[in-house]
Amino acid sequence: MYNNKVIEIFNNPKNVGELKGANGIGTVGNEACGDIMKLYLKIDDNGIIENATFKTFGCAAAIVSSSVATEMIKGKSIDEALKLENSDIINYLGGLPDNKIHCSILAKEAIVEAIKDYRKKQAKKLKKQENKKA
Ligand code: FES
Repeated sequence: MYNNKVIEIFNNPKNVGELKGANGIGTVGNEACGDIMKLYLKIDDNGIIENATFKTFGCAAAIVSSSVATEMIKGKSIDEALKLENSDIINYLGGLPDNKIHCSILAKEAIVEAIKDYRKKQAKKLKKQENKKA
C-alpha cells in the first residue's frame, strides 16, 4: 500500500520526540481515525524555525508526514512554513494512498496550530513587557 520512500522514512523517522524549549506547540487530531499529532517548534526572535520535532500517535502515514513536515520547515520563517501544503508532503513522498491523504493534512494543521500557539505566547509576552513599562 505504501511506496518505498514512505516505508524508508517510517523505518527511520527524523525529529521524533518532545523539544525542550519549544515556544510553539500544536496538537491536532482526526476524529475519524483517532490519530493525534503533536508538533513542537523552537522559533527564534527573527521568526525563523530553529528546530521542529513531533510526537505522533497514529498510522505510518501520519508519522512519515510529521517527519517530512519537520524537515521541510526547519530553517524557514513562520510565514514560509505556513505556505507548506499537504500536497508538498505528498509530492515529496511520491504519493500516499487515497485513504491516507488526511494524514498529511494533519501535519499541515499541526504546523498552523503550533504557529498560532507561538503567536499567542508572543503577544502575551509583549503585553507583559508593556505593562511593566507602564
Ligand atoms: Fe488517520 Fe493516518 S489514518 S492520521
